Amino acid sequence: MSALQNRQFLLKARPEGRIERSHFDFVDATIPEPGPGQALVRVLYLSLDPTNRIWMSDMDQYMPPVAIGEVMRGGGIGVVVKSSSSLYQPGDHVLGLTGWQDYCLADEGANAMSVLPADLPIPLSTMLGACGMTGVTAYFGLLELGRPQSGETVLVSAAAGAVGSVVGQIAKIQGCRVVGIAGGTGKCRHIVEDLGFDAAVDYKAPDWRQQLAAATPDGIDVNFENVGGEIMEAVMGRMNLFGRMPLCGMISGYNSGEPMRADFAPILMRRIAVRGFIVSDFMDRFTEATTQLATWYLEGKLKHEETVIEGLESAPEAVNLLFDGGNVGKLVVKVS
Ligand SMILES: NC(=O)c1ccc[n+]([C@@H]2O[C@H](COP(=O)([O-])OP(=O)(O)OC[C@H]3O[C@@H](n4cnc5c(N)ncnc54)[C@H](OP(=O)(O)O)[C@@H]3O)[C@@H](O)[C@H]2O)c1
Repeated sequence: MSALQNRQFLLKARPEGRIERSHFDFVDATIPEPGPGQALVRVLYLSLDPTNRIWMSDMDQYMPPVAIGEVMRGGGIGVVVKSSSSLYQPGDHVLGLTGWQDYCLADEGANAMSVLPADLPIPLSTMLGACGMTGVTAYFGLLELGRPQSGETVLVSAAAGAVGSVVGQIAKIQGCRVVGIAGGTGKCRHIVEDLGFDAAVDYKAPDWRQQLAAATPDGIDVNFENVGGEIMEAVMGRMNLFGRMPLCGMISGYNSGEPMRADFAPILMRRIAVRGFIVSDFMDRFTEATTQLATWYLEGKLKHEETVIEGLESAPEAVNLLFDGGNVGKLVVKVS
C-alpha cells in the first residue's frame, strides 16, 4: 500500500441478497488533512458486524442508511498519526466509526472517537469484542433487559458468535444454567468445553428441536435473541411464564429483504417481556460496562474469541462469514 493513498470502499448499490464486492467501488482517495479540532487516524482494525448489512439497505433502521457513494460505515480502532486537536495526541489509540478505509478523521465534535487508555492491559482487538461494543451489547441486553436470576435457565442463539459468546459467559457468572444454540458440532463443543456453557443445541442437526427440549428440561427463563425466524419461535415455545426476551438481533432475516415475522401467541400466553434494544441506548453507561467486562477478562472469567481476516481489501467477502457461520467470536479485519 502506498503511504499516499487512502483506500476506501464506497457503497455503489444496495444488496438485494448477499453482500457482493460489486456493491462497492474500491477507490484510492487522497489522505485527508486534519482541520482545526480534528486528527488523522490510521485504521488498525475494522469491526465487521451483521448491522453492516442493515446499514447498506434502506430498510427501516436505527441510523440513516449509508448513502450511495458514501464510505461504507463501520466501527474500528485506529492510531492517531497527526493532530490539530487537544483531544487527540499522535500515538493515541482511538475507537469509533472509522469506516471501511485506511485513514479517517477523528473530530472533537459530533463524530468524536473515544481515546483508549495508553496503558491498556488488553489486546486492542478485544476492545472491539468482549471488552468493547460487543461485550457492552451482551452486558446490558442480558443484565438490564434479561434480568437473569441465579439458577434460572438462559438461552442464547448465535452462541459461538461475538455477542452470544459473551452473553453465555456473563450468564454463567450470574449463576445461571446456560444453553447456547449454534451451527455445527464444532461450535457446540466449543461453547461447552471452552466457554463453560451447560449445554449446546446444534440447529443444523435434523433433531435440533429434540436437542432444544432435552437441553431445557425446566423451560427457559431468559431468551437472548440474536437470530429470529424459526429458531426464535421454537425457543419461545419453551419459555416459562413471565420469561424475558431481550431482542438483540434477527440475523436470519437480514439478507432476505422480507419482513421479519414472528408468532405473537406465546408472548401473550406465557406473558413474555420482549424488548428490542440497540447498544447505543446505554451510551451514558458504557464506562460501567467496559470496566466490569475488562475486570472479568483480566480475572480470567471472560474469554475474548475472535476471527481475524487480513487486509482491508477482504472486507466485502469477509462480512459474509457472519451470514455463513464462518466466524467464531468477534469478526475483525486487520487493516494495518
Ligand atoms: N442490538 C444491538 O445493539 C446489537 C449489537 C451487536 C449485534 N447485534 C445483533 O446480534 C446478533 C449477533 O451479532 P454478532 O455481531 O455477535 O455476530 P456473530 O454472532 O459473531 O455472527 C453471526 C452468527 O450468526 C449465526 N447465523 C447467521 N445466520 C444464521 C441463521 N440464518 N440462523 C442461525 N444462525 C445464524 C452464525 O453462527 P452459526 O455458525 O451458529 O450459524 C454467525 O456466526 C446479530 O443479530 C446482530 O444484528 C445487535
